[in-house]
Amino acid sequence: MDATELLKNVNVVPVVVIEDKTTAVDLALTLLDAGIKAIEITLRTADALDAIELVAKSVPEMTVGAGSIREVAQLEEILNRGAQFAVSPGATGPLISMAKQIHMPFVPGAATASEILTLMNEGYMLQKFFPAEQLGGTQTLKALSAPLPEVRFFPTGGITAELAPQYLELECVTCIGGSWFIPKALLIERDFARIKEMSRAAVEITHV
Ligand code: 3PG
Repeated sequence: MDATELLKNVNVVPVVVIEDKTTAVDLALTLLDAGIKAIEITLRTADALDAIELVAKSVPEMTVGAGSIREVAQLEEILNRGAQFAVSPGATGPLISMAKQIHMPFVPGAATASEILTLMNEGYMLQKFFPAEQLGGTQTLKALSAPLPEVRFFPTGGITAELAPQYLELECVTCIGGSWFIPKALLIERDFARIKEMSRAAVEITHV
């Protein structure tokens, strides 16, 4: 299954930084409860790989992916930990080769027309557009998409509750990613009740 197929019924993907793996399962259960079906756990902390494994094992209803992929070895590691998809802020030849070799659904990142075209030629029809807001947000995405209508995007970076619906209105956007509904402080405090409220609100505004 490729990433387009895997994420076809997903509108919003929480992009999370997990500092403490013991919060991972409760977070995944909270998100599921709020109606969120996929999570991207970024490889930016020492606990990230364990967090992926814990969620994959304990919350099978949640589609768990790994984000911030930078190195080939990380793709093999996340496969062993049970990740179902991988996301990178960009793309390199070795990452693409490895993702294909291990059949990992992969969402590579692109920010320019040339990068989008290169990934298209590699068969990647769903691409992360990153960092979305800093690149000009929906206006830039609309302009890039006009001559490249076949490609679908998963924008992330700077998206807020206010901006989210504008992205999902674009035909070229199939889902968006963001961290606005899981503030770091709430996760550290294990305030899952508040995270659930914010996640429910995120599901509501991204319901298209
Ligand atoms: C990412 O890695 O996709 C971004 O860091 C997520 O962006 P946000 O934290 O600005 O929502």
